[in-house]
Amino acid sequence: MMRIALGSDQAGFQLKNIIREYLPELGMEGKDFGAFSQESGDDYPYLAAKVSESVVRGTYDRGILICGTGLGMSIVANKVPGARAALCNELFCAQKSRQHNNANILTMGARIVGTELAKEIVKTWLTTEFAGGRHTVRVDKYAEIERKYADAG
Ligand code: RB5
Repeated sequence: MMRIALGSDQAGFQLKNIIREYLPELGMEGKDFGAFSQESGDDYPYLAAKVSESVVRGTYDRGILICGTGLGMSIVANKVPGARAALCNELFCAQKSRQHNNANILTMGARIVGTELAKEIVKTWLTTEFAGGRHTVRVDKYAEIERKYADAG
């Protein structure tokens, strides 16, 4: 069973809960990293990093992060080496981010997508395979660039 790490700020709180309850319909299980209330979202960057790290380390198979736009979550998640977070507020990117980018984290904006579209995005993203082939050569270069800047730091 695929295990999914979930996180949100206060803006994504409700949608994150809806997605957590939806995952069993896909035969998957969600681990909720918070937020656990709709109060201050000042710490969402720490939460995004925690979810991202849990995916990169292999504790969870994939991550889903939800804020108002999905932007803050994707920016922070991609700071963790090995993360390939993709902001997908529509279906085309949800599909391509898996086929071409082998995205391991999905981010969405609760202020942009409705509940039903969000569920379709999640379903598409979780069930679409990486196409491999020429895309492997390209995705491997993401890690090469990460190593370059890690060494430079
Ligand atoms: C909160 O107002 C909003 O800034 C946050 O949810 C997110 O969209 C940040 O990128």
